Amino acid sequence: MNLDALIPDYVRRFQAYVPSKPDHLLMQEYGAPRLHRLNNNENALGPSPAAASVIAGFPPGQAAIYPSGDSYDLRIALGDRCGIAADRFLVGNGSCEVISSVIKAFCQPGDNIITADKTFAVYEWVAEFSGIEARLVPLRDYTFDPQGILDQIGPKTKVLFLCNPNNPTGSYWTRQTLIDFLEKVGGDKIVVVDEAYREYVEDPEYPDSIALMERFPNLVAFRTLSKMYALAGLRVGYLVGAEPVVAVVRRTSVAYSVNALAQQAALAALSDDTAHIAATRSLVREGRAFLCQVCSDLGLETIGGEGNYLMIRTPINDMLMYRRLMKRGMMVRTMTAFRFPGWIRVTYREMSVMVSFAEALAEEMRLMPMISGAT
Ligand SMILES: Cc1ncc(COP(=O)(O)O)c(C=O)c1O
Repeated sequence: MNLDALIPDYVRRFQAYVPSKPDHLLMQEYGAPRLHRLNNNENALGPSPAAASVIAGFPPGQAAIYPSGDSYDLRIALGDRCGIAADRFLVGNGSCEVISSVIKAFCQPGDNIITADKTFAVYEWVAEFSGIEARLVPLRDYTFDPQGILDQIGPKTKVLFLCNPNNPTGSYWTRQTLIDFLEKVGGDKIVVVDEAYREYVEDPEYPDSIALMERFPNLVAFRTLSKMYALAGLRVGYLVGAEPVVAVVRRTSVAYSVNALAQQAALAALSDDTAHIAATRSLVREGRAFLCQVCSDLGLETIGGEGNYLMIRTPINDMLMYRRLMKRGMMVRTMTAFRFPGWIRVTYREMSVMVSFAEALAEEMRLMPMISGAT
């Protein structure tokens, strides 16, 4: 079989993403008796009580029945919360799925999308394996650069992806920065704001993107139940936009991709989120104060902002630091793939884990002259 002849050039060039191995295999590989995950910006508190109860009580018989193909009840609940029509929501198997639907809906070969060079990479990856050029604009002061993005817009630009707050730097645009940007872009490009970490931001200047959609109908927001709502394992995310825009994206999305348990747990998670958000914010605040102090005491540079994560510059190669921390049961994210070589990203967790991480990091720093001498 001549497989090669079947493959488009842009797929041939693209390297598949390699997810990390299951925890039990990693623990064996690194000889770690326990493993704390500080690599994926998950919420250590787990789902809210209402969501946890739906998950625990899911009737097995329902596994035999197809779910609502368009997350009907969940969209109604989202619409009620925001005071807008349910048809303005499109729910996906994680917000990663809706990224793909937006690119498929608006782009064809020859078109381009624009995003930052150091941000969540899935916008760039989906564009590339779909044969769409991804124009990458350098961050300015670790923040999306409005003018840099405007300068890259051309006649074939279809979608601009902004990550607000940005993963991994935690920086964000205020309402005014976003409005100024949208005014300059004009109405003939889709502007996506990925708000995966919006519930962590406490600044009143952070934009209410849904309110802005009235004035800017080309604005689309992505949100997820994976981060603050702690449902990452169930995979629920959604986009919200003006009705005509969402209707187009719906054409390129796969119906029935969100399972019944995920839809029900998401619905429950939204119903009792106030205390859950407050508790999570408090955990993050405490973790941030502690870890920033630890890094400062160790003389390590950090980049952080909103969101439940902190970047730390390591004196050695980030992969080497990852391996050394893994042996101590601490799994962090290496940042070379985010174009930040020599940095790791750490998720804030409960204080007992933060303390263990700080001890592991301090011990590695103590050994550092020997490690750097040996490499
Ligand atoms: C900025 C950003 N967007 C989207 C996602 C993906 O979220 P989901 O789990 O909903 O696919 C992530 C996950 O890390 C993220 O950091």
